[in-house]
Amino acid sequence: MENEIIIETKDLSKDYHDGGNIIHALRGANIAVAKGEMVAIMGPSGSGKSTLLYVLGLLHPPTSGVYLFKGDNILNYSREEQAVFRNRELGFVFQSCDLLPNSTVFENLELPLVYAESDRGQRRRKILEALDRVGLSHRVDHWSNRLSGGERQRAAIARALVNNPSLILGDEPTGQLDQQNTEIVVKQLQDLAKQGFTVILVTHEEEIGEACDRVIRIRDGVVVSNGHEESADVVFESYEGQAASL
Ligand SMILES: Nc1ncnc2c1ncn2[C@@H]1O[C@H](COP(=O)(O)OP(=O)(O)OP(=O)(O)O)[C@@H](O)[C@H]1O
Ligand SMILES: [Mg+2]
Repeated sequence: MENEIIIETKDLSKDYHDGGNIIHALRGANIAVAKGEMVAIMGPSGSGKSTLLYVLGLLHPPTSGVYLFKGDNILNYSREEQAVFRNRELGFVFQSCDLLPNSTVFENLELPLVYAESDRGQRRRKILEALDRVGLSHRVDHWSNRLSGGERQRAAIARALVNNPSLILGDEPTGQLDQQNTEIVVKQLQDLAKQGFTVILVTHEEEIGEACDRVIRIRDGVVVSNGHEESADVVFESYEGQAASL
């Protein structure tokens, strides 16, 4: 099905307790994302973007609300079930690339596979396949700290892909890259979305937002726009086309 909804949240809230203060980081966030979409989450600093991403990634439990993944209420899963789910279905890419420096690219990509894939030959095949998707298979046995900044971030994307997840979550994945490497990484994420991976990115850069299918805008923990209205003219055009052919 083309417009299969992969994630849907209803009134998702997240409070942090900071000393005696309660911070309402998310105050009823409603989003829906379809399979193969590449969506940006944008908004002012402190508006709750990372919090939303971490809740979607099951890294932070929400205070209340519903989170459906392919129709399943995954907040009801046990901690163990959530860990298995995270390993199987989700891939993370963060701003500061967190590859282990004194290890090869291969060793870095092997970590998420240790639980999921017991066969060594299969592990190597999956690692080379993930590296190939980001054009880095020739770097498989390089030390990760000898990669360029752009290569390192692409290796981090490959690591996020290695278990063939449904959803890739990125928190400012190009935040520390120059313009040229930013373009390469964004292009690769776009290619992945075309191949059917779903991509959700937090970004501050409007240009990256424009490279996505749509932008979810968040302010003070509330989704103020889900970006669908920006494509309203496209709908109108196709409607006109239909009318003309009548
Ligand atoms: N672990 C935490 N404990 C307490 N408060 C937190 C915690 N993490 C985030 N907050 C607060 O929650 C609010 C939302 O933070 P969040 O990190 O989601 O914002 P953001 O939109 O990602 O901002 P930025 O663009 O600066 O990264 C902020 O007021 C922040 O100070
Ligand atoms: Mg943030």
